[in-house]
Amino acid sequence: MKTLVLTAHPDLDNSRINRLWFDALSETGEITTRDLTATGGETMRFDVEAEQALLLAHDRIVFQFPFYWYSAPPVLKAWMDQVLSFGFAYGPGGDRLAGREFLILVSTGGPADSYHAGGYNSFSMDELLKPYQQMAILTGMTYLRPFVQHGLAVAEDAGLAESVRSMLAHVTDPELDPKVKHSRILREIEEQEKQVASVA
Ligand SMILES: Cc1cc2nc3c(=O)[nH]c(=O)nc-3n(C[C@H](O)[C@H](O)[C@H](O)COP(=O)(O)O)c2cc1C
Repeated sequence: MKTLVLTAHPDLDNSRINRLWFDALSETGEITTRDLTATGGETMRFDVEAEQALLLAHDRIVFQFPFYWYSAPPVLKAWMDQVLSFGFAYGPGGDRLAGREFLILVSTGGPADSYHAGGYNSFSMDELLKPYQQMAILTGMTYLRPFVQHGLAVAEDAGLAESVRSMLAHVTDPELDPKVKHSRILREIEEQEKQVASVA
């Protein structure tokens, strides 16, 4: 499983959690990380062919960002608008991303209980991330369960190390796609039944 993490933070050096995530992901040595702010520069212009080639070389595509006004920082939108182009990601012949997995890693300032009906953010993260889910559907990618770290507005530094551990476990979990998990469980059941039959 080759994983590509595209990090969209306007000021990674002054970030608390996304910097830690980015560094931990880079240090695995097995995951390709890309700082979109550094890559796109002030004009947020991307080398579309290079970005698309990178996507094609990976099986799991990850967007990592802090939640800004219920969305991602603008550099991610600029990257999407340029790179997920007609004839590549959608439209006639635009099936180049089909079959890959797509995952979101996101941090929020607001606490978990605010992201519910009746909470001050009213909607769940699953609801607020729908445009990304639909992007995955349109491009033929499998949308995986997002990793959400809430409460950065009040989080203690001590809790951040645990966030890094859980995030790494999530990103490297080969069974995030429930179809993959179910087929492994079915194989194990089949194997157990064969063993019971051979003993009987
Ligand atoms: C411009 C801006 C918009 C933000 N919008 C939201 C928001 O809509 N919901 C929320 O929970 N937090 C919001 N926040 C808080 C950030 O999500 C939080 O600071 C970030 O996840 C922390 O990550 P970092 O330490 O990597 O910067 C916003 C922060 C900024 C600067």
